[in-house]
Amino acid sequence: MEFRSARLAVLQLLGSVVQADRPALLQWMRTTRDFDEFTHDNHDIMLKSIAEDLRNCLPLETMLSSEHLALQKIQQHPEPTVHVDAFLYDEDFIDSLCEEGKMSRNYCMVCGSHQTAPLGFISHSFSLMEVKFIYHHALPDLSGKILVDVGSRLGTVLYAGYLYSSALQLYGVEMNEDFCQLQEMVIKKYQFTDRIKVLHGDICTQGSLLQNADVIIMNNVFEYFLNEAEQARAWEYINHNVRKQGSLLVTVPSLEESLSGLQTNIQLSPWVEEVPLNYTVYPEKDIDREALEQIHLYKIL
Ligand SMILES: C[S@@+](CC[C@H](N)C(=O)[O-])C[C@H]1O[C@@H](n2cnc3c(N)ncnc32)[C@H](O)[C@@H]1O
Repeated sequence: MEFRSARLAVLQLLGSVVQADRPALLQWMRTTRDFDEFTHDNHDIMLKSIAEDLRNCLPLETMLSSEHLALQKIQQHPEPTVHVDAFLYDEDFIDSLCEEGKMSRNYCMVCGSHQTAPLGFISHSFSLMEVKFIYHHALPDLSGKILVDVGSRLGTVLYAGYLYSSALQLYGVEMNEDFCQLQEMVIKKYQFTDRIKVLHGDICTQGSLLQNADVIIMNNVFEYFLNEAEQARAWEYINHNVRKQGSLLVTVPSLEESLSGLQTNIQLSPWVEEVPLNYTVYPEKDIDREALEQIHLYKIL
């Protein structure tokens, strides 16, 4: 059915509803989530369009010269590693860049020879598949809830939260001013201003925001961006301020792994309880199960 006849059919249907029930039906149509399955495709398209806008504003490696420590840490990896942002470049996109010779999945072990080995890839953003998993399968209904993305970078978690959840407010806190400006540009262009707010600064200055949040997302926030003493201090701050009973904390990698090797006094068992996640929800072959399995959900005790 085309738009005009579908519209007519809806109006006819409304006209045939018992008059006393019409307000209830209209109210349901305005507020229901039952239409979500029809709008999700459109949400994917919007996120892909945002990714395209951001690709046009950023270099291929999606890292800024102001990110000294992160650039240095990638170079110091034991295996040759490159940063490829998973929100901006999905697997198909990487394949096409490799075909065009603009990117490589391998590095040469002996210069000039054909002996090559796979390059390590890391991403400082969640992919579309990961954010969909978080909002559709890991988190409960977020109606009326406040979500904070610690280190919001390109804003992936915030835009996806706007489109895939009913969260009342989505806050991003990001210490890099250039990334804050990019997020502001997207929020304005796509008219997300009613539910998304980005704060420029160190998360360690946002105690009351953390104390009031119902959901806190932490995607490998500190490891590449702070030295070990700063990471330990930031985690202590999170542990001190994320205390609202029943609130949810999503981390990549697990809290155990994030804290291992850092000198902190954080005790996990009196603070959080892990909520098991079902990582098998996407049966498709090309799904990156390893990436999904890095996502952990905790309930604050
Ligand atoms: C790995 S990215 C996460 C991006 C985004 N949350 C996502 O999942 O797509 C981590 C971001 O945290 C920021 N960051 C690191 N330490 C921070 C701090 N103490 N306060 C605020 N932002 C911080 C970094 O600048 C970086 O952009």
